[in-house]
Amino acid sequence: MATNDNLVEVEDLYMYFPVTAGVMRRKIGDVKAVDGVSFNIKKGETLGLVGESGCGKTTTGRCILRLYEPTGGKVTFEGQDLTALNQRNLRSIRKNMQLVFQDPYASLDPRMTAGDIIGEPMLVHQLVSGKEYKGQVDELFRLVQLEPYMADRYPHEFSGGQRQRLGIARALATRPSLIVCDEPVSALDVSIQTQIITLLMRLRQELGLTYLFIAHDLSVVRYISDRVAVMYLGRVVEITNSDELYDNPLHPYTQALLSAVPIPDPVVDRQRKRVLLAGDVPSPVNPPSGCTFHPRCHQAIDICKEQSPEFRDIGNEHWVSCHRV
Ligand SMILES: Nc1ncnc2c1ncn2[C@@H]1O[C@H](COP(=O)(O)OP(=O)(O)OP(=O)(O)O)[C@@H](O)[C@H]1O
Ligand SMILES: [Mg+2]
Repeated sequence: MATNDNLVEVEDLYMYFPVTAGVMRRKIGDVKAVDGVSFNIKKGETLGLVGESGCGKTTTGRCILRLYEPTGGKVTFEGQDLTALNQRNLRSIRKNMQLVFQDPYASLDPRMTAGDIIGEPMLVHQLVSGKEYKGQVDELFRLVQLEPYMADRYPHEFSGGQRQRLGIARALATRPSLIVCDEPVSALDVSIQTQIITLLMRLRQELGLTYLFIAHDLSVVRYISDRVAVMYLGRVVEITNSDELYDNPLHPYTQALLSAVPIPDPVVDRQRKRVLLAGDVPSPVNPPSGCTFHPRCHQAIDICKEQSPEFRDIGNEHWVSCHRV
């Protein structure tokens, strides 16, 4: 695997959260939020990360940014092993990776003006002189198509879509190369969603950004992503380029997720075969044996209950972990 075109390399990442009980807070188990995940993100690409609620998408993103200390595994960013960095070096590399949150209201300090919100990261990382500051903040406002005169307003004086633009501008303030977008449009109106996605795509082009784009909505992910990784119960079960994933989904879980996405043409929509997902996602504290998807899988056979399938490349960089493929 050529290292130099990868901005991020995730190798066998684990993130377990302890489950405790009683007044002594005795540890009785682990939430296996991320359970052995490996993938790369190439420079300049957008990798979509999809899966049902609770499958570990946010945790994976946070481990990459090292907002969580992973239980195991390795994350390499720009060739540096993040898991081995000390706090000081981590601080200096952290400005190169930023997070855009789902809820722009909760993530922006309501007592700060928009200008201060956007400018703060530049001050914290000492990226501007006092003279340049105002001009840089104005520039960031324009970059996300807001007017610099809005800098004196507070977050509640902006609409939802504008607030998400502020969140994006704040993320851009440190001139990062990687942005983890954690469901950045899920809280917005459909019409606003398109505007924000278009903005993110334009910024990627103009600034040469790389995205990890987390989402529930597969139609949004398809539009913005070069490749898509599908997660189930803390593991990546399929990863390939977007078109291949949508035209030729191999994992039964991916097929089920895709069949829930409406197709704009009602005739085609009515004719296609639906794969329904039975039941809920099992608990990540006690994941099922073998292939963790087997209790919900309509194609499961005996081996699926016993053996965990290998994650393998079936050609054309299409990776899948399923005994039936
Ligand atoms: N700080 C934490 N402490 C304990 N458990 C956690 C913590 N963060 C997440 N979890 C658990 O880890 C699992 C994965 O959570 P995560 O937030 O990564 O899922 P997600 O795929 O982002 O879901 P959603 O689509 O709802 O945002 C869940 O079972 C969750 O309850
Ligand atoms: Mg999440």
